[in-house]
Amino acid sequence: MTILVTGGAGFIGGNFVLDWLAQSDETVVNLDKLTYAGNLDSLKSLQGDARHVFVQGDIGDRELVARLLAEHQPRAVLNFAAESHVDRSIHGPGDFIQTNVLGTFNLLEAVRAYWAALPEQAKAAFRFLHVSTDEVYGTLSETDAPFSESNRYEPNSPYSASKAASDHLVRAWHHTYGLPVLTTNCSNNYGPYHFPEKLIPLVLLNAQKGKPLPIYGDGQQIRDWLYVKDHCSAIRRVLEAGRLGETYNVGGWNEKANLEVVKTICALLDELKPRADGQSYATQITFVQDRPGHDRRYAIDARKLEAELGWKPAETFESGIRKTVAWYLANQDWVENVTSGAYRDWVFTQYGAKP
Ligand code: NAD
Ligand code: DAU
Repeated sequence: MTILVTGGAGFIGGNFVLDWLAQSDETVVNLDKLTYAGNLDSLKSLQGDARHVFVQGDIGDRELVARLLAEHQPRAVLNFAAESHVDRSIHGPGDFIQTNVLGTFNLLEAVRAYWAALPEQAKAAFRFLHVSTDEVYGTLSETDAPFSESNRYEPNSPYSASKAASDHLVRAWHHTYGLPVLTTNCSNNYGPYHFPEKLIPLVLLNAQKGKPLPIYGDGQQIRDWLYVKDHCSAIRRVLEAGRLGETYNVGGWNEKANLEVVKTICALLDELKPRADGQSYATQITFVQDRPGHDRRYAIDARKLEAELGWKPAETFESGIRKTVAWYLANQDWVENVTSGAYRDWVFTQYGAKP
């Protein structure tokens, strides 16, 4: 059997492909455009593994997707591909509309045509799983209850608006055409292979280079952190047993203020790789201008996923962040390649793809 994963060279998609192939003999066809965020260096361990078929391409390329579906006959398509960084969406929303909205539309259309022509048994077993975010629900005040699946969509950034649009398309393709879809809305992920434009890897790398650790605004914005492998296990569980047309919130009940997260990373680095001058990395914390339209608080109510599908995260924030800091310290080659941009050259040498 085969599954098709989109965006499998990114942070979460890459972790998912690695986890999947560690637990299953099914082939993974990995369709990824290799934008700045796509990094095949993260999948180096799969080199020579015939179960991993990498294809550089765009989810918006309907012909390419149709050809891949016809050739590989996957039993499921999992859509991780997206433009994912809120700050980039503020500076240039165009790519977000292109990939997250139009790309998802084209992908859905290619998948619908493939699914409609499948024999009855394969048609009934087929799944389209769309990976989405808690940001579609907007922002919470300190006293609001965490987001549940019945919360209204109130996206505030170009990124979250584009993801909300993609979620609506997925929902409509189920309602109108009967496409067997599942959607997951997850909170903030962290862990290995995280591109260092996002808060946690940025702070980890800047700290070691003696650079400022930028905190937007007052640093009291709250995010609900989930170790990436726990997100992957939730997606596997939803794919296996989720009810068609349903959405599932994914989170580990780990709300933390940004400043607390950064101080925790500093304390772990102080312990595991103390600064030569004996000072704490926390002295590098620098308050900078706030993100425009910055959402104050996200928090996920994951009770539906826990109760219906029996999913539980394996990591607490404390265990996951310790593992993450240790991973970045132990994987300096990956870090060096990603910060120097050398991973683009590596892609070129291995796959002949344009860096
Ligand atoms: P990422 O930016 O690290 O990776 C995205 C991947 O998609 C990259 O490999 C990129 O090359 C690829 N891609 C981009 N445009 C493409 C296109 N048009 N066609 C094919 N491939 C394309 O993102 P991530 O953090 O791994 O997020 C993956 C998914 O999970 C996204 O849909 C995101 O919205 C969602 N999500 C992320 C988080 C988080 O905390 N990172 C939390 C919840 C949901
Ligand atoms: O909630 C899920 C979302 O989490 C995903 O859908 C997005 O794809 C993912 O990027 C993430 O979005 P955030 O905007 O929450 O993540 P980011 O790491 O960019 O920022 C986390 C918090 O830290 C946020 O409140 C902004 C703040 N921040 C971020 C950066 C990069 C800083 O204070 N300083 C920084 O330099």
